[in-house]
Amino acid sequence: MDEKVQTQIESHTEAVTLTPIETPKVSKSTEILRKSAEYLDVVSAGKKLDPEDKNHIIKHTLENFDDYFNRGFLHYRKSVAEAEDFAAIEWTGQGSIIEDIMGRKFIDCLGGFGVYNMGIRHPKIIQAVKAQLERMPLSSQELLDPLRGFLAELLGELAPGDLQECFFISNGTDAVEGALKLARLYTKKTGFISTTGGFHGKSIGSLSVMGRAVYRKPFQPLLSDVYFVDYGDIKDLERELKKLMDLGEDIAAIILEPVQGEAGAVVPPPGYLRRVRELCDEYNILLILDEVQTGMGRCGRVFACEIEGVVPDILCLGKALGGGVMPLSAFLSTPKIWKVLEENPFLHSSTFGGNPLACAAGIAAINVMLEEDLPQQAADKGAYLMKQLRSLHALYPDVLKEVRGQGLLIGMEFSDRFIGYRVAAGLFKRGVLVAGTLLSARTIRIEPALNISYELLDQMLNKLADTLKQIDKQLDKEAREAKEKLSKETKSAG
Ligand SMILES: Cc1ncc(COP(=O)(O)O)c(C=O)c1O
Repeated sequence: MDEKVQTQIESHTEAVTLTPIETPKVSKSTEILRKSAEYLDVVSAGKKLDPEDKNHIIKHTLENFDDYFNRGFLHYRKSVAEAEDFAAIEWTGQGSIIEDIMGRKFIDCLGGFGVYNMGIRHPKIIQAVKAQLERMPLSSQELLDPLRGFLAELLGELAPGDLQECFFISNGTDAVEGALKLARLYTKKTGFISTTGGFHGKSIGSLSVMGRAVYRKPFQPLLSDVYFVDYGDIKDLERELKKLMDLGEDIAAIILEPVQGEAGAVVPPPGYLRRVRELCDEYNILLILDEVQTGMGRCGRVFACEIEGVVPDILCLGKALGGGVMPLSAFLSTPKIWKVLEENPFLHSSTFGGNPLACAAGIAAINVMLEEDLPQQAADKGAYLMKQLRSLHALYPDVLKEVRGQGLLIGMEFSDRFIGYRVAAGLFKRGVLVAGTLLSARTIRIEPALNISYELLDQMLNKLADTLKQIDKQLDKEAREAKEKLSKETKSAG
């Protein structure tokens, strides 16, 4: 070794004095090392789990959620779920079946709230991600990654109109943040119009255009010049736009979902989206469509905006874009709008956005969606389900108040959230997962994989009929008992 270098190393070594490690720290890190090895064993599942292992995992999961991870979430589940069910530990899944650690199988009619359009662990998507993992998982951040270009090309070709340029990120909320920033940058205006009930994500920008008080209130003040109109009410939008323009407010864009997902599969009246587009053109305002949940075939077309032949100025995608295997989202716009990013392309960036693994998943997701014609499957199966659900509504109108939806984004509305919750819990007990929680169980969403079989749909419908019948009987009994109690009380008071 070079003498100079050797001296440098020696002097450097001499200069460093390490803080002596205290014994408790040593034992703590040894313990963490031991535990991490144990958990890695569970991940690699090299050995078959015996009943003792399974109970051990259940116990640890509950303790860990309670002690280290968002404790409220566990307590919330405890309060809403039947005692024996809240400890369901998800373990594996394939297609439209999810299996918990004890081997109980569930028909997945929740689809990860729109993540699993292609089903769970679609073999083609898994294969693409595995192959990419063997080569290069994340980007060097410096060299050009071919997969990012491939996916951008596919999306640019797939998207309607001249939506051709795109940017990749990982979550739906990131796509919305990017869309809002791009709209401000291009229009040099600051205001936004959004819709009541709209759900766009929970980071500050997205939250500012979110139409639900429960999520907004604790974080106010949010972005200041955001105005809300009633979703689906074109007159309200016309009024608001006229008023804002009369007042000289600067509005950059209107943001909305073509069908509101989180609000409970709310479909606007026919022609609504087309008229929104016209108004945007009339007032020189950009139209941002949030298709994080409705995109990738969910509503019976690749993008729900295609149903009315509407092309937005900015389109947000997420959830199923990653094929149910990788987190991936995107916002797309036209070359004309994108020009504002050319001067400084680093005005918006993301370390993990569009990483090679996510792009491999995205490319495979598009391939599967087109090869299996998932949009058509969603349209056909959605029509089938709606017909059956309407019959159930006719049979049990006191329990199931309304069914609505587009493609395989379907909402069942109950008279109150407690009944909705009973339905979700009844289905859970019968081995069906649906999107219903105590916070918003008044509407339960049915949002299965688009390639779910008719056989599984029929099984779900039978279990739903069974659940509704049971609840209908219970409600009758409760009403009878309440009436009897009231008449006894009236008699004794008289
Ligand atoms: C329409 C819509 N936009 C945005 C989001 C936020 O997506 P994420 O949770 O991935 O940030 C959601 C999530 O449900 C959504 O439905």
